[in-house]
Amino acid sequence: MSIFIGGAWPYANGSLHLGRVASMIPGDVIARYFRIKGEEVLYVSGSDCHGTPISIQANKEGISPKMIADRYHNEFIDCFRKIGFSYDLYTRTDAPFHHEVVQELFNQLIDSGALYKKAVEQTYCNACERFLPDRYVEGNCPHCGSVARGDQCDTCSTLLDPLELHQRKCKLCNETPSCRFSDHYFLALSKFQNELEFFVEKSTGWRENAIRLTKRYLEEGLQDRAATRDLDWGVDVPLAGFEGKKIYVWVEAVSGYLSASKQWAKQSGESWEKFWIKEGVKAYYIHGKDNVPFHTLIWPAILLGIGNLHLPDQIVSGEFLTLEGRKFSTSRNWAVWVPYILDRYEPDSVRYFLIANGPENRDTDFSWREFIYSHNGELLGAYGNFVNRSLVFIEKFFDGRVPNGVMEIQIKLQIEELYTICGSLIEKGRLKEALETVFAFIRSCNKYFDEQKPWIQIKEDAEFCGSILYTCVQIIANLSTLLEPFVPFSCKKIRSFLSLDEPAWGYFESQASIELTQVEVLFQRIDVSQIEYEIKRLTAIEK
Ligand code: MF3
Ligand code: ZN
Repeated sequence: MSIFIGGAWPYANGSLHLGRVASMIPGDVIARYFRIKGEEVLYVSGSDCHGTPISIQANKEGISPKMIADRYHNEFIDCFRKIGFSYDLYTRTDAPFHHEVVQELFNQLIDSGALYKKAVEQTYCNACERFLPDRYVEGNCPHCGSVARGDQCDTCSTLLDPLELHQRKCKLCNETPSCRFSDHYFLALSKFQNELEFFVEKSTGWRENAIRLTKRYLEEGLQDRAATRDLDWGVDVPLAGFEGKKIYVWVEAVSGYLSASKQWAKQSGESWEKFWIKEGVKAYYIHGKDNVPFHTLIWPAILLGIGNLHLPDQIVSGEFLTLEGRKFSTSRNWAVWVPYILDRYEPDSVRYFLIANGPENRDTDFSWREFIYSHNGELLGAYGNFVNRSLVFIEKFFDGRVPNGVMEIQIKLQIEELYTICGSLIEKGRLKEALETVFAFIRSCNKYFDEQKPWIQIKEDAEFCGSILYTCVQIIANLSTLLEPFVPFSCKKIRSFLSLDEPAWGYFESQASIELTQVEVLFQRIDVSQIEYEIKRLTAIEK
């Protein structure tokens, strides 16, 4: 089986906050799982370096959009390395290779009739001598009267066309823009209505929110969508007479899945086709709920328009994460920035929290209290503690060598079952349950340790005590595989304590009489005074 995993493409116009990463992390868990299961995996994503927000930011700072994109792309790469995202390729949409692939796709879509040309009336600023991007037009919302941008009203959340605004103004020069006709390409979504209905009907394994939203769009009837825009930063429309026009994000950025696959193939000498064309492909797409229609309707329509390319199978679309009970707000700096938390806390703590308490089926909240309690109570309290108490016992009473013994058969059976249950939950994108199943097992192992009382057995029945610790070591060894998709940093530590090879999904036993190497605690306790410190800091930096 070839597993394709497409992670969301974050806009390179600002730092990542925790909510963003919460919707991306399932991709890494799924990729790691399938790799250790022995499947062929291609996990790609990249920075979305185009779009008006980046141009606006660049204007504000008086530098080029490319410089803004560079800054945040590099920061993202650093964050993803620290948090352990195992992309096979993380690229960017301003890469020349991406531009070439997108333009080739664009031409193919014109040939197949999925794209067609139409003259549209648009806002044109005579003073600036240019057509204005939606966000560069400001005026009063026709629905609620508030000041709104041309793409949407933030007050009443209505999606707008700039021509609907009253008292229109060019945001660049404050003049009143006029209207002019110009040619644009449209994606003929309406033509794909039946095919897409069929595709959605027969698909399984989408998150609830993806099914709900997609069906709503289909019931309302699909509208054709503009595929080109008047922008100065993006992928050029590859046709004469379209100078100054760019391919719009929802055709352009989503095509990154294909361009990244092709780029990866070129760099690695592998074939991209085996993840896109062959039978036996399974394609996962991981993103937040705001991205749903672009992955369940637009991208499938593009793929159908080109033909012979594998459609999405699983849509793993997250709900939103809130912060201390309130929405994240970039502009008001109500956020936990990813570079900040990764500089101060362990990546496994962040990963654990975002999966165990992640917004899988409903919005969930990040609070510093919960975060620190989940680290101390669960990660350290259950998992770290079990590993630590077992290995320290072996150091103390068995000279640091794993004793010979007989594996407790009931526990062996439980572990075998865990591989099956946990694996099938991960494959369905139900990561929270998968992780909780393993942690319920870990708690039962701590109980086993307490009940067996090895500290008494060592005096009364040393051989039996050996079997208890032998069993504990097998539990720990298998945890380093079962938890590898979720908390890979601590799993790697375990493998080094026990001199284990790279993980492979399935029950195994580590050798007896192996000497433990450089055992240390898996996690440090976080002082609870940090809770107050972090909350104070958060409120202090809020604008
Ligand atoms: N950068 C856009 C966003 O974050 C689109 C990213 S997802 C894509 O909303 F895969 F569709 F590109
Ligand atoms: Zn409004």
